[in-house]
Amino acid sequence: MRDAFGLFATGVTIVTGRKPNGEPAGVTVNSFTSVSLTPPLLLWCLQNASTSLDAFAVGLEFAVHVLSLDHEDEAMHFARRAADKFPARFAGGAGPPRIDGALCRLECVVEAHHAGGDHTIVLGRVIRCESAGGAPLVFQEGVFGRFTALPRGRHVEAWETFNGDWF
Ligand SMILES: Cc1cc2nc3c(=O)[nH]c(=O)nc-3n(C[C@H](O)[C@H](O)[C@H](O)COP(=O)(O)O)c2cc1C
Repeated sequence: MRDAFGLFATGVTIVTGRKPNGEPAGVTVNSFTSVSLTPPLLLWCLQNASTSLDAFAVGLEFAVHVLSLDHEDEAMHFARRAADKFPARFAGGAGPPRIDGALCRLECVVEAHHAGGDHTIVLGRVIRCESAGGAPLVFQEGVFGRFTALPRGRHVEAWETFNGDWF
């Protein structure tokens, strides 16, 4: 099943926040998904064994950073279980730490936690959104890669209202 899950290609994000004592926290996450436009909601799943769990308690702020192709090292860095993932300059600051160069930064408040087996589903309400765009980092079968549009790749717009034939 794990291998089957890994076949699903995803983008890669770093989710940052702060523990109640102000200590910065950051985790590499590929379980991110958009949920709702009205109200603006997203979710991601955090393993219950995470040392960063208390940075993402209900009511706290966090930020999702969608990573660019240049962020492979950062993705590996924030996938480590370590207390000191951030340089000293982030200590004492306010708000979720910023990952520079991300395709977008979605600032949220934790709206709810839902039980999800050995993970906690973190539902976030988006309060601020910044988009820069760019080439995304992609993850599949345990390997980082890049996205390439098909030669005739169709641009799917307004799919909610699409009413015709796909083929
Ligand atoms: C590409 C990639 C995606 C990951 N996605 C998730 C995820 O969605 N949820 C999660 O809890 N851990 C995920 N991890 C593992 C965490 O990044 C890692 O366990 C965590 O950073 C360990 O530190 P912590 O104790 O502060 O959580 C992922 C790791 C990688 C390399």
